[in-house]
Amino acid sequence: MSAEPGHASTLYDSIGGADALRVAVDRFYQKVLGDPQLAPYFDGKDVSAIKRHQVLLLTTILGGPGAYGGRDLGEAHAALAITGDDYDRTVGHLVAVLDELGVQGDAYETLASAVLGTRGAIVTGEAAEED
Ligand code: HEM
Repeated sequence: MSAEPGHASTLYDSIGGADALRVAVDRFYQKVLGDPQLAPYFDGKDVSAIKRHQVLLLTTILGGPGAYGGRDLGEAHAALAITGDDYDRTVGHLVAVLDELGVQGDAYETLASAVLGTRGAIVTGEAAEED
């Protein structure tokens, strides 16, 4: 709530900045890794690094500082053969977290549309041709 003078307010600020995004991303991965249908994708992966990149990506989407330095999303997910069903489950967990944290309005719309725009890059598994 304490915007610095001369610092244009962004959606990133409006949801509570870095702390809020870290909480959101932590909760999101708790749900994803607690989902037996999704957890196996993360076997042997460096979840802290993924979370760090996820926070940066969401920061960028919401107009916050810094730049996303992770891999292109298509490249990062290419070897995983993620199905459309598993993608939808994952997005469901993300939406649940945003709801739990009371993210609404422009910030919600901006995140939801940016995330849904990743479907084509991320879904490469066998159910992909269904839609
Ligand atoms: C919903 C949209 C999604 C977004 C925005 C997203 C975003 C990301 C980001 C930013 C990374 C880190 C890339 C890097 O470290 O360079 C990542 C990695 C990863 N994601 Fe996603 N992801 C999404 C969906 C999914 C889904 C549906 C799954 C599986 C169910 C998944 C599984 C993984 C795994 C296993 C990695 C690590 C890959 C590796 O290190 O080899 N992601 N994702």
